[in-house]
Amino acid sequence: MFPIVAHEELAPKVHRMSVKAPIVAEKSKPGQFVILIVDEKGERVPFTISGWDASKGTVDFVYIEVGKTTCRLGSLKPGDQLAHFVGPLGKPAEIDHYGHVLAVASGYGASAILPVLKALKEKENRITTILQAPDRERAFGCAELEEVSDRLVLAIGTPGEDMTVSATRLLRKLLANHPQNPIHRVIVMGSLCLMRVISEMTRPYAIKTMVHLTPLMVDGTGMCGACRLSVKGNNRFACVHGPEFDGHEVDGWDVLMARRCTYADESVLQQSFQCR
Ligand code: FES
Repeated sequence: MFPIVAHEELAPKVHRMSVKAPIVAEKSKPGQFVILIVDEKGERVPFTISGWDASKGTVDFVYIEVGKTTCRLGSLKPGDQLAHFVGPLGKPAEIDHYGHVLAVASGYGASAILPVLKALKEKENRITTILQAPDRERAFGCAELEEVSDRLVLAIGTPGEDMTVSATRLLRKLLANHPQNPIHRVIVMGSLCLMRVISEMTRPYAIKTMVHLTPLMVDGTGMCGACRLSVKGNNRFACVHGPEFDGHEVDGWDVLMARRCTYADESVLQQSFQCR
């Protein structure tokens, strides 16, 4: 069993959970994920690792209450235990000295991107971060992002406007400045829509754009095929070949988005009837 050592609400329906899992904590690297099962009858659900402390043996992840398992997680308290907590899974993110790195994050990505940015900062990259959120109340993680960024810009959606628009508007300005203030690498973590749009925007500039894909997963070890996606015409499994991919090489965005929504209606129903 894996005890919960801390659990806090970062924004409405957004939580950070810290779990005692010393072996996972010892081996975690930026960009990797865990799969947990709440109890013996629970489903397997993947979460990107947002932090760890090897000396305390703890691993953190951030989740948003959207379905049965995440609502169940939301009801747990420090001292409660998770039945299974497997990881670290997936390939670590590519970390090197690139120069000027632009990070774009939304939703859970605001916290999940932190280990990647910390590692990039240690490699002396200059980091500009765009944090996209629907409103100020849901713009969580600003202080931590500020610590690892040379510049943090908030893209807050205005009423009636798709949130992606405000982030892409900021990106368009930065790209217009690209010759004078070059961007050497882009990293996007958040909604599939955001990752797809940003990848298309940077393609004409040939700026390497890494996206962190989280399709449906079951085993997390490359055996079941649930997380397959198409990259340069080849089948790839996000759990073992990713979750980080070159966004310009992902060529199955429509399929990816359709499969991601397979259980969306059920999740909304479960949320209506079962969440606190
Ligand atoms: Fe089964 Fe990736 S989750 S192959």
